[in-house]
Amino acid sequence: MRSWVLQRVTAVLLIGYLVAHMWALHYPPYEITFQTVLARLTSPAWKLFDITFLAVVLYHGLNGTLGVLMDFAYLQRYERAITWLTVLVGLAAFAVGAPLIWAFSPP
Ligand code: HEM
Repeated sequence: MRSWVLQRVTAVLLIGYLVAHMWALHYPPYEITFQTVLARLTSPAWKLFDITFLAVVLYHGLNGTLGVLMDFAYLQRYERAITWLTVLVGLAAFAVGAPLIWAFSPP
């Protein structure tokens, strides 16, 4: 039930993240140059945005995939193992991605 609710909550959050992402990265109200990209990538606020975006999309994508997998009756007996594997994949992806986003600094 909780993961069902969180799947919907993260779906709504993703709409906001997606709109902001498309606006800032693909259709900004200014010319996209090396300097403007650099300024965004070094901004702590944008880093925080990107890291939380990563967390939300990982939860949504992996929790959704887990839901699809658990719809298969023959996989349900492995639910514990598959759930733990999914959690580990999510944590590993976040552990790789978040520090990479945070560490970025101009040369
Ligand atoms: C604005 C972006 C997104 C919105 C609004 C959205 C919305 C939703 C909603 C409402 C559900 C529940 C569907 C249901 O249970 O009937 C869902 C399920 C799911 N989403 Fe998303 N989603 C978005 C992006 C993504 C992304 C980027 C991924 C992959 C990384 C993803 C992967 C999944 C998966 C695997 C499911 C489970 C599908 C199922 O239960 O049949 N979604 N999404």
